Amino acid sequence: MRMVDIIEKKRDGQALSTAEIQFVIENYTAGSIPDYQVSALLMAIFYQDMTDDEITALTQAMATSGETIDLSAIEGIKVDKHSTGGVGDTTTLILAPLVAACGVPVAKMSGRGLGHTGGTLDKLEAIPGFKVELSKEEFIQQVNTLKVSVIGQSGNLAPADKKLYALRDVTATVDSIPLIASSIMSKKIAAGADAIVLDVTIGEGAFMKNLEDAKRLAKTMVRIGKLANRATMAIISDMSEPLGEAIGNSLEVYEAIQCLQGKGPKDLMELVYVLGSQMVVLGQKSPDLATARQMLTENLANGTALKIFKEFVAAQGGDVRYVEEPEKLLTAQYQFEFKAAKTGIIQKMVANEIGVAAMLLGAGRKTKEDVIDPAVGIVLHKKVGDTVTAGESLLTIYANQENIAETERLLFENIIIGKDAVEPVLIHDIITA
Ligand code: URA
Ligand code: CA
Repeated sequence: MRMVDIIEKKRDGQALSTAEIQFVIENYTAGSIPDYQVSALLMAIFYQDMTDDEITALTQAMATSGETIDLSAIEGIKVDKHSTGGVGDTTTLILAPLVAACGVPVAKMSGRGLGHTGGTLDKLEAIPGFKVELSKEEFIQQVNTLKVSVIGQSGNLAPADKKLYALRDVTATVDSIPLIASSIMSKKIAAGADAIVLDVTIGEGAFMKNLEDAKRLAKTMVRIGKLANRATMAIISDMSEPLGEAIGNSLEVYEAIQCLQGKGPKDLMELVYVLGSQMVVLGQKSPDLATARQMLTENLANGTALKIFKEFVAAQGGDVRYVEEPEKLLTAQYQFEFKAAKTGIIQKMVANEIGVAAMLLGAGRKTKEDVIDPAVGIVLHKKVGDTVTAGESLLTIYANQENIAETERLLFENIIIGKDAVEPVLIHDIITA
């Protein structure tokens, strides 16, 4: 097989065979096909698209390009959850103990964040002492005893995706539905879960800008999951404004604890219940979504989920005093109120730009090498659709620096106050196999 023939075939709009796709992925991972040829192929895929069979073959080839995790030593149906990206998305911290409380084992491998705000690992590490590096044996044992563990992704999971993603990033080929779908699903399949719940987000800064594209991505991933024998479903959720109230690592842990204490913001809790119900049903701990939701509500109200969160933090070396007294997490040196410039109704709070405003304070990374400051971030007091009065505080900025001019400028430009009534929609659609 010659790479140049494969590029030509895709360039001309023909479907590649499974053998051709395997050839590309194996040899690219091994270093025997150069970046420039794969770049050309990626651009051809970008323009010519791929069939379901091609996307499935690509996903399988990437999933098996490195280590695959065997979770069969964990009893029960392991259900994973993945979001395509959000600002202030604290759901995993709440869902993991809450779903575990319903009897579904949560064996989760998470990533760090780049840009915007931190990833789940960065948030957990905001709890002093918390360790995200466990051996595979420790990880499996913890899930069997506690029903929950969240650790960092192992070094060699889907290495083909790592290489391809880096190449896509510098060749303007990230925004391709077959490439995004195969990238996400290859990692989920390699990570060993039996069932997968996907949260496909829509918004200006999200991968998917509109409902039509989001549906196509969701349907593609659900189909790949099915063909790979993993029960998969997707919800399409709104990410045009930040989720919940807190954006920033310690602040989001604080928010998660508040949620587990029954004091969470409405939108964040709704997303938790929608995703959680699907996880409990896929984990076969409930026959239907309504019963699942009731189980989740009860395990939150009776304190079981919070108790499991505390045990989970303790098991991974975290200092549980921060869970018992979450105010200890609020350590930023300065707090600034950001006030409404006029009276009206909030039309927009552009999620990704507010994420950048938090990143500039140190809550996220501009480059992989940047160090996150867990203490800093933003807490919203108002959300889209709320009425505000000139001079009223819209949000509090938690900072470890006095100069926050750039953050304030971004907030000013991206929080739009107007006259129209706005009714935000959180869940746009649900896609099942
Ligand atoms: N997330 C991924 O893991 N891969 C993509 O291609 C896009 C989002
Ligand atoms: Ca949040």
